[in-house]
Amino acid sequence: MTKTHHLSAVLILSTAPFWSGCTAPASDAQVQIARVAPPAVTAGTAEHRPGLHQVVTYGDGLVCGGAPEGEEGLRSIAAMGIKTVISVDGAAPDVATAEKLGLRYVHLPISYSGFPDERGLELAQAVANLPGPIYLHCHHGKHRSAGALAAAGVMNGLFDNEHAQARMKVSGTAADYQGLWQEAKDARPMPKEALRADPAKFPSVSKVSGLVAIMTEVDIANDNLKAVQKAGWQVPKDHPDLVPAKESARLETLYTQMHTEPDSTAKPAEYQDILKRSHEVVRQLDAAIRSNQADAAEKAFAAVQKSCKECHKLYRDQ
Ligand code: HEC
Repeated sequence: MTKTHHLSAVLILSTAPFWSGCTAPASDAQVQIARVAPPAVTAGTAEHRPGLHQVVTYGDGLVCGGAPEGEEGLRSIAAMGIKTVISVDGAAPDVATAEKLGLRYVHLPISYSGFPDERGLELAQAVANLPGPIYLHCHHGKHRSAGALAAAGVMNGLFDNEHAQARMKVSGTAADYQGLWQEAKDARPMPKEALRADPAKFPSVSKVSGLVAIMTEVDIANDNLKAVQKAGWQVPKDHPDLVPAKESARLETLYTQMHTEPDSTAKPAEYQDILKRSHEVVRQLDAAIRSNQADAAEKAFAAVQKSCKECHKLYRDQ
């Protein structure tokens, strides 16, 4: 990986003077971090760095990727010379640690089906008015962050719709997320006056409620269970504080909450049916983990993953 970083640093520094600050320590950050240039805008694959995944450069000073994992991930962001981090994920960002590293955080959550015009304009204005380089992330860094950065870049006249979609491919945006692809296709350059906004207006944490808040936690518990699965349904060596039965119980509690959450109860009978069936496999998973039955856990977990997809295909991604 070091070789790739070195190569991209050379490419960027020789073609874009904008990045030339990348080798010097940041003057405003309170912590000094060795610089590693962002990936080249021509890179054909996403890069992974310590605590940071799916890093893809869309244009000068515009980097897309996954959520930083703890301080390590935030340090990888700071190492790229990033000044502003924009999250479009439902989870509340770790603003305190980011600020310690000299990073401004802005939280503008979007869904997997795209975003309303007002949110699109806010994202474009954030890119236009906040100090760059900018790192824009969701959770996994493949779908929502890609659609958001693609649209915001086009609206700022930084690249065209074709380039935006080509970079989304590199990020790994799935074809299923038609709404996100549509945002990248439909975005048009906006006049400078329309993009002007007070940099102070962007929130560092947006309140997320209802089903989105529950799903954000479901996603975290599910990711933790993936780590447990990888470790053969034991406590993962690189994650010694994870308690498998605690994660499965947490998932089960969240599914119970879904039955009374108004965003959820308002949905049609077919949804309620999927919810009931998916809750059942989550209960089976919890029981298997509690009784240390790896085979049963493996089977139930596969069914859980299938049920996330089934419900999202019909009720989230359209
Ligand atoms: C019964 C239906 C249903 C099931 C089962 C379900 N989800 Fe969801 N999920 C939704 C809906 C609906 C949304 C969109 C909520 C919104 O944007 O209003 C959503 C949104 C999400 C989001 C986006 C949250 C954000 O930041 O906007 C994530 C992540 C997610 N789900 C993960 C999961 C995972 C992982 C599983 C399985 C372990 C799962 N979901 C199971 C219905 C479901």
